[in-house]
Amino acid sequence: MIEGRQRTLYGRRRGKKLRAGQEALLDTLLPRLLVKVPPEPQKLDLAAVFGGARDIWLEVGFGAGEHLVWQAEQHADVGLIGCEPFINGVAKCLAHIERTGVTNVRLFNDDARLLMAALPEQSLARAFILFPDPWPKTRHHKRRFVQRDTLDELARLMKPGAELRLATDDPSYLPWMVEHACVHPAYDWQAERPADWRDRPADWPPTRYEQKMLAGHKPVFLRLRRR
Ligand SMILES: C[S@@+](CC[C@H](N)C(=O)[O-])C[C@H]1O[C@@H](n2cnc3c(N)ncnc32)[C@H](O)[C@@H]1O
Repeated sequence: MIEGRQRTLYGRRRGKKLRAGQEALLDTLLPRLLVKVPPEPQKLDLAAVFGGARDIWLEVGFGAGEHLVWQAEQHADVGLIGCEPFINGVAKCLAHIERTGVTNVRLFNDDARLLMAALPEQSLARAFILFPDPWPKTRHHKRRFVQRDTLDELARLMKPGAELRLATDDPSYLPWMVEHACVHPAYDWQAERPADWRDRPADWPPTRYEQKMLAGHKPVFLRLRRR
């Protein structure tokens, strides 16, 4: 857990100038969907946030939100919380939410670890960390979102049997994910053969980052189960 819910965020929060329609969505739709972190030591009341949702799923760093909104469309009885501090991505996600009319998405536009610290134990049935910023230089590895402490914190939040999905196309983040997540004692890696991590599962649509193939390598899809 990050101490005192302090923000330690790397990367940009704002990119190119937003269009008027995007600004309007940030002014009108975002306030209705924002999750507010309560003061410590209180935890978020997820029943109040989502009403009768069957399960709660979390996506960390949703980018432009295509995957988040796709999952919300496919699973109308699940409540999805998406975390993304990059405001241009949040604006794009709001456009997807408006276009599709999904009502089961809530957003947190800051460091996901601040939200995670405020979630109750065993509250999540699924978590997605898809193409986290690769930080390929060795001296920047400490900035990677997948770290022992975030995995420990997710283990606190995930129900037994809950699924953690990780993806990367960065050749140095793959062994890092294996060394940190796949061998973590709280999780079982669900792969029995190479196709289990090389081939895209049917219910896992490509993300915007993945489609741009920034690192130029084939992505891997890691599925872990909380013990
Ligand atoms: C490489 S992008 C991938 C975005 C998206 N998952 C995709 O595949 O298209 C990584 C994203 O993680 C976000 N991010 C970085 N650190 C974060 C943090 N601590 N909490 C939440 N999001 C974070 C960044 O703003 C960025 O949008």
